[in-house]
Amino acid sequence: MSPGSIEAIANLPIRYHWVQRLVHWLMAIVIIAALAIGLYCSYLVPGSAERQFLLDIHKSLGMTALVLIVLRIPLRAMLGEPRRTIAPPRHERLASHMVHGTLYLLMAAMPVSGYITSASEGRSLPWFGLFNWPNLLPENRHTGRLLATVHHYGAYVFFAALSLHLAAVVWHHIVKRDEVLSRMI
Ligand code: HEM
Ligand code: HEM
Repeated sequence: MSPGSIEAIANLPIRYHWVQRLVHWLMAIVIIAALAIGLYCSYLVPGSAERQFLLDIHKSLGMTALVLIVLRIPLRAMLGEPRRTIAPPRHERLASHMVHGTLYLLMAAMPVSGYITSASEGRSLPWFGLFNWPNLLPENRHTGRLLATVHHYGAYVFFAALSLHLAAVVWHHIVKRDEVLSRMI
């Protein structure tokens, strides 16, 4: 049976693998919380106790996202994506690949830039008060500020890509009434 044959395609699953679904929803919760807390912190006075407390939670959530994305990328490479019952038009496939690709890129770039900001500025790297992540970088304020800028603008791109992602899910579910949402639940 060749990989492109009708039997081979018919044998592909119609939902994401349960591990992919579990990691998707865990990451959705962790990332939305990290984004919301990060944005809120940007309005708080630097050095205040409240900002410090919330940033510690933010960093813990962000480092959790880093661990999960390291697992998620090989899972995606190994398991791929499920088949669609009706092949979507080319522009729809292109749009979904572009948005998903951007989300994957940011799911890696945001935790990495956050880690480099904190590590190179000699700040703490806690994980929910249980332990501290090792600081692998020499102190360098210039690198810290540069990566803080990447982290800052990355957050806006993340927010935009996520809004498109959620709008697409709502459009598929409510307007097109297709199987897109059920592939992930
Ligand atoms: C309540 C919020 C969310 C809902 C309802 C949702 C829903 C979905 C659905 C239905 C799919 C399957 C699309 C398909 O291939 O047909 C999907 C895929 C995906 N979602 Fe979400 N999502 C949410 C939040 C997030 C968040 C926060 C992220 C991370 C930034 C994210 C990243 C992704 C990615 C990268 C894929 C593509 C998966 C792959 O092909 O490997 N989602 N989402
Ligand atoms: C999915 C992961 C992450 C997201 C979505 C995220 C998002 C954000 C957002 C929206 C802000 C506010 C932007 C600003 O003030 O300029 C922020 C700030 C910050 N984040 Fe993250 N972040 C993530 C991961 C991390 C990680 C892993 C760390 C460190 C271990 C971290 C450390 C910081 C720090 C220190 C700030 C304050 C920056 C400053 O003082 O200039 N973040 N983050």
